[in-house]
Amino acid sequence: MQNQIFGEAGIGNVTPDNFRTQDKEFQELQLNLIAIHVVSEEVGADKFEESILRAPDPNNKMRMAKTVMEEYGHHIRYRELLDDLDLDWNEVCADKAHLTTFDTSIDTWTDQMVFLALVDRAAAHQFRHFIKSPYQPFREASQKTLNEEYGHVGFGMDGVKDLLARGKEGRKLVEQAVWKWLPVGLSSFGADESHTNERYRYWGIKTQSNREMKQIYYDQVRAFITKDWGIDIPESIDGFLDAAGTRRETVAA
Ligand SMILES: [Fe+2]
Ligand SMILES: [Fe+2]
Repeated sequence: MQNQIFGEAGIGNVTPDNFRTQDKEFQELQLNLIAIHVVSEEVGADKFEESILRAPDPNNKMRMAKTVMEEYGHHIRYRELLDDLDLDWNEVCADKAHLTTFDTSIDTWTDQMVFLALVDRAAAHQFRHFIKSPYQPFREASQKTLNEEYGHVGFGMDGVKDLLARGKEGRKLVEQAVWKWLPVGLSSFGADESHTNERYRYWGIKTQSNREMKQIYYDQVRAFITKDWGIDIPESIDGFLDAAGTRRETVAA
């Protein structure tokens, strides 16, 4: 990858040594993305921590504890990228908000399992872009993170399978959680028309539009939600989001 050219901008491999000589916009976008992960991975780990004791048995408690440990590891891993650039991570992250993904509360074990199966999966879709991006340390950190995210997604899928094995009652819990978490997974890709995404693509940090990423994600999850989980959801993203909105209003009323 060292001799590769990245993005429309056509820049070469970026390392900590030549990071500061890059275009200001590239530096800002890259640092912004690192900062988002420094902040969000820690918030995520804190939120997941409560799920360890919610797990139904020691085996699941152990897998959940490992997941929490890895999420703190992601926070530290991205923090180290800032250390390598001699930046004070507290300063860089001072006014960074965490990803809105974590604004919806994880209240039950079912929530946690469906979150991992659907929302961590959405995160993995983003990391698939990052592992091909120009800044080498970010690429490498994201590859390690992606491998662990795949593990989290697998854990969520196993957890959902266990819930579905409980029959009707389990399917009902999973179904409610799908309607709660799939909108969160979809919104994590950002707005369909996004100037920032365009600039990420220009610099080779991402290779698809938010809408394209969302569509690939939705098609993938809809396939197993309808076929393997036996839960019916609309064919189109817009159809799903409309129905999810109506459901929320009905529940609120
Ligand atoms: Fe993570
Ligand atoms: Fe994760």
